[in-house]
Amino acid sequence: MIMSERIRIAIAGVGNCASVLIQGLQYYGKDDTLPGLWHRVVGGFRVSDIEIVEAFDIDSNKVGLDLTEAIFMPPNNVAKYVNLKSFGVKVREGILLDRLSPYLKQAINLSNNEVSIEDIAKILIEGKVDIFVNLISSGMDKSSYAYAKAALQAKCSFINCTPSPIISNEELVKGFEDSKLVLIGDDLMSQFGGTVFHKGILSFMHKRGVKVLKSYQLDVGGGLETLNTIDEEIKANKRILKTNAIISEIPYEFESVAGTTDYVDYLGNNRVSYFWIEGEGFLGSPIKIDIYLKTRDGPNAGNILLDVIRAVQFARRNGYYGLVNEICNYGFKRSPKIMNLDESYQRFKEIYLR
Ligand SMILES: NC(=O)c1ccc[n+]([C@@H]2O[C@H](COP(=O)([O-])OP(=O)(O)OC[C@H]3O[C@@H](n4cnc5c(N)ncnc54)[C@H](O)[C@@H]3O)[C@@H](O)[C@H]2O)c1
Repeated sequence: MIMSERIRIAIAGVGNCASVLIQGLQYYGKDDTLPGLWHRVVGGFRVSDIEIVEAFDIDSNKVGLDLTEAIFMPPNNVAKYVNLKSFGVKVREGILLDRLSPYLKQAINLSNNEVSIEDIAKILIEGKVDIFVNLISSGMDKSSYAYAKAALQAKCSFINCTPSPIISNEELVKGFEDSKLVLIGDDLMSQFGGTVFHKGILSFMHKRGVKVLKSYQLDVGGGLETLNTIDEEIKANKRILKTNAIISEIPYEFESVAGTTDYVDYLGNNRVSYFWIEGEGFLGSPIKIDIYLKTRDGPNAGNILLDVIRAVQFARRNGYYGLVNEICNYGFKRSPKIMNLDESYQRFKEIYLR
């Protein structure tokens, strides 16, 4: 059934992911038969049903600009795929409660930040926002928490695309459940990025009876998010999150490491992931895989974002509140109840792709 309802969203963080979201909305909003869109209808919604009504950032080079201009301001480096038409949304000042990594500090111009949770909530209420999507930099745990609180105050559902721990916060989960709102996260899993690709190879080895012994995944990129991630603390946290997502694919223990290894500026928005996997076959015979995957980081988030936004609106309308496992597992690296890739896709399909 096709729904006749608009999905009003706000975004925090006008970076590369925001750029692909906005470009994708105009591109597929006009014609959803164009190649590249994974699912035309999710939970009864088309891409053209999604509307961005508010946006926040802390970079003074973006704050105050029309959103369709702000997404092309450096350090954003997603290509211009679409000639955008302005839809009248200006970037507003966001909340900053965390230390900036030295790399982020150098890359952006910090705006005069005196915004409170209440200020953000008021804007979300006035904008009649249904879903608040958190797309800010990694390592901003207090700011991400503040955006989730603002969503709760404004009675919006919340999608946390960042690695900050939101879905493990019991107070937030209870708040969203009690308010009959949806809470989704953490850390978006790209459509065909390093993590999902790594999981896919391991799953295939396991299905074919190969015993997985060891694996690693080394990600190198040239976007602001990768630059920010070379900060030791952020890097260590992301490595734990990615590694846990990888090892959950196989029902026994094996040695694995997955994480961002370095920033190479001239890669731009490209990302290269190097994989090395060792397994054991019949009579203990060795099986080794040594490959790399090259992708565009930003566009890799587009399909999952569009699917998850539409699924969240469907979930709320149909009485699913709080953490919705089927959406978390489908689109995120850290989820409340781990499922493997096949199960996750199957469950999502049964509910949202009918
Ligand atoms: N394929 C993907 O792009 C992908 C996949 C998985 C997860 N993610 C996550 O999504 C998030 C966004 O990724 P990105 O590539 O767009 O990052 P990005 O670095 O390009 O953009 C982040 C934006 O957030 C802004 N920002 C930082 N702190 C803020 C705050 N407190 N309030 C408002 N704005 C703030 C920055 O100024 C920047 O404009 C990251 O946390 C990343 O880990 C992205």
